[in-house]
Amino acid sequence: MGVPTGEIEARYLPLDRMLVERIIEWQVDHYRDAFPSFDHDDWIDFYGPHMRGQDGPLPVVLGAFDNGRCIGTVSLVERDDLDDVDDYTPWIAAMIVDPARRGAGVGTALLNAALGRCRDLHFGRVYLWTHDQTDWYRRLGWIEVESKVFRTTPITIFRLDLGPVSAQIAT
Ligand SMILES: CC(C)(COP(=O)(O)OP(=O)(O)OC[C@H]1O[C@@H](n2cnc3c(N)ncnc32)[C@H](O)[C@@H]1OP(=O)(O)O)[C@@H](O)C(=O)NCCC(=O)NCCS
Repeated sequence: MGVPTGEIEARYLPLDRMLVERIIEWQVDHYRDAFPSFDHDDWIDFYGPHMRGQDGPLPVVLGAFDNGRCIGTVSLVERDDLDDVDDYTPWIAAMIVDPARRGAGVGTALLNAALGRCRDLHFGRVYLWTHDQTDWYRRLGWIEVESKVFRTTPITIFRLDLGPVSAQIAT
């Protein structure tokens, strides 16, 4: 159980290389066993479009901040690594909470913030894949779409329906 969390603010991740390096340490550590190819350079590539500034609606990279300190992040991207899933877009990706702050609602807050961005962008459905957090996403209402093997590791693709797009466009 993490440290209880008070007011968590979710907002765009600043273009801050030191912060991204700290996040990459969490990511490399988390994926080391199942996806060793997700190494430092791979994550630099992942966060590159965000760090260079974006010229389209995606990617969206959000951070969760507690008193100004980043304690987690999540991204919304058009495509996410997998082959043969061209019909699936967009994806929630790279969800991670500071290891010292897990189990205190930060991940749920980040996920909700990302879903809010999906609605803002008028996406009616969103996808993600996971190799180790199926129970967490199931509990949060995500629906399993298919199971695959990605780089020798079994994964599950989930989707979440966000409701009719026309209802979200109304001003
Ligand atoms: C998965 C992760 C993002 C969850 O974030 P978190 O801040 O720890 O999660 P929350 O505290 O918001 O979880 C809310 C609830 O889910 C429960 N929960 C947390 N992890 C869970 C899991 N793996 N399976 C089932 N339930 C889980 C919590 O106990 C909590 O339950 P409660 O509301 O009844 O108290 C975080 O553990 C993490 O960063 N893990 C490593 C990276 C990772 O796996 N990312 C996902 C890649 S797809």
